[in-house]
Amino acid sequence: MAILSFNTKVHFGHGESKQLVFETQNLKIKKPLFVTDKGVRAAGVFDLAIASLGDIQSPVIFDQTPPNPTEDAAVAGFDTYQANGCDGIIGIGGGATLDLAKAIAVLCSDPVPLWEYCNRNAHPHPIIQPPPLILMPTTSGSGSEVGRSAVIIFNNGIKAGVGCPTIVSVAICDPDLTRSLPKYMTAATGMDALSHCVETFCSPLINPPIDAIALDGLTRLFKHIEQAVVDGQDADARWNMMMGALEGAVCFQKGLGAVHSVSHSLGALGYHHGTLNAIMLPHVLAINAVVLKDKLPLLCRAMDLPATTDLVDTFLRLNQRLGLPAGLKALGVEKTSFQSLAQASLADNAHKTNPRLLTAADYLTLLEAAW
Ligand SMILES: [Fe+2]
Repeated sequence: MAILSFNTKVHFGHGESKQLVFETQNLKIKKPLFVTDKGVRAAGVFDLAIASLGDIQSPVIFDQTPPNPTEDAAVAGFDTYQANGCDGIIGIGGGATLDLAKAIAVLCSDPVPLWEYCNRNAHPHPIIQPPPLILMPTTSGSGSEVGRSAVIIFNNGIKAGVGCPTIVSVAICDPDLTRSLPKYMTAATGMDALSHCVETFCSPLINPPIDAIALDGLTRLFKHIEQAVVDGQDADARWNMMMGALEGAVCFQKGLGAVHSVSHSLGALGYHHGTLNAIMLPHVLAINAVVLKDKLPLLCRAMDLPATTDLVDTFLRLNQRLGLPAGLKALGVEKTSFQSLAQASLADNAHKTNPRLLTAADYLTLLEAAW
């Protein structure tokens, strides 16, 4: 039996970013470190998110979040926190930003090398008394605001998680913050969320409440992703995308699968997480299909499709309609990297909860199919 855990306080709804002033006071944060990225600031979303705080004298803003969060960026953010005498962290952005904010909070607990906190270690360094942390997503994808870890590219080249299931003090999910998200990012981050629902539902661990949440998230995401891409101002589509993303991340406790073991390996090379998941999802479903005979009809039902629908083809065609790349070749992935990618995928934690235990040869088959 997997762990049953639903422990993040969440404000959810249109206009809920106004809760930031209440939560900042509630957590006694007087000088926050704002963690964000330049794109979120340039789009005006950062200002929208913090509007309830009014005029802030000399806000401390770390906006150097890389597309994939790195150990170096976490250390730089921690240095900014220390140098300015901050007493709390507010992360505003996509999954990379929110994961980075978590990693900075972990370092504030005790600034030992970040790798010591990595969940690849048998006994990760304990996180004791991290600062208060508020997360506000501006995409509907990773669900990092309620996720159990921060996925970081460490200086040793490995992309892996820092387990921090209780580090988020409160999440504020306001779908209005996603309205200006460009079409491509809406599609790619949305497919990340959708892959979370599919992978966690297919995980062999036993956790019926999580299965129900995964299927509900899949229903919302599959129904609304195309509309959110077509019309980003559609409030209902944005609400459902954000709820589906949150649900997908609540489900992480049941474990992911080979979509994510491969995308973590490729992500360490700098490729976009959601794009990788969108590409890998149909091919991973194909390789797992033999052990998913009971679950595939339930996925179909959640997507309001006939029980015998070919989901491999369904997701391939969905990617096409969303304007996502057809394969890894289009991203510039070289076949010469397949052997090392297969080894890295075997070492990834998500590999362990794929519905069937894949071998190195299986991963090579998978990469070839997805190329
Ligand atoms: Fe993901």
